[in-house]
Amino acid sequence: MPAAVYVVSIDPQASTVWWANRISDLPFDFSQEHETPENLAILKDTGAKVHVIANQKGGVGKTTVTLNLGAVVADVLKEKATLQHVFIDTPGSLQDENLLLEALKFAHDVIVPMPPEPLAFDPTARTIQKVVEPSGLPYKVLVNNWDPRDGKTELGETRDYIAAQGWPALETTIRRYKVHTRASAEGRVVTQYDENKPSFKAREDFYRLAIELGYGGGE
Ligand SMILES: Nc1ncnc2c1ncn2[C@@H]1O[C@H](COP(=O)(O)OP(=O)(O)O)[C@@H](O)[C@H]1O
Ligand SMILES: [Mg+2]
Repeated sequence: MPAAVYVVSIDPQASTVWWANRISDLPFDFSQEHETPENLAILKDTGAKVHVIANQKGGVGKTTVTLNLGAVVADVLKEKATLQHVFIDTPGSLQDENLLLEALKFAHDVIVPMPPEPLAFDPTARTIQKVVEPSGLPYKVLVNNWDPRDGKTELGETRDYIAAQGWPALETTIRRYKVHTRASAEGRVVTQYDENKPSFKAREDFYRLAIELGYGGGE
């Protein structure tokens, strides 16, 4: 039975494949396509919604968001027999802009993760202004990696900055939890975390995100 969710990486650095190879029971189909991004064209005929996760700044959480959002959507839609959602993880560098542009050709929308840090503002603005907005695709900015112990100052500044730019933003904030950082080393996605309080909160963020995005299917 085909999975309801397909995750593709076109990041030549292939951190996703490195991660995915360590995950024993991936809840979604996965492939690495940076050498053959033209293969993405077949996605057009599947009827699935194609979401690109993009920010040309590295380390903002593209891979973390792609795999964990893919995992919770796959969990919610596990009874579906046909492909519903495709998530494309993209490179975090300006050199590989052509790969990102290729993915945008086949996409329905874009999610732009950014951490609540002023250092990320300018690079994120560049991606949005030079690449995402010219594509004409709808997009939403996602604040990722906010540490609740830091208080709300930087989160507020980041949300103010996003609003001042006029960017559409997701209300859900993905908090920073050590379990996410450890998960990449252990080869696990959020639906496979242990049952404890931080894991529960970490998982809650991604379910909230999936609900806000409306990726849970019908009633
Ligand atoms: N919400 C989060 N909580 C904890 N660690 C995170 C979170 N988001 C990202 N990270 C960590 O930050 C690093 C960079 O994230 P990654 O998803 O690889 O970014 P990108 O794909 O944009 O380069 C990784 O070590 C990842 O585990
Ligand atoms: Mg990555």
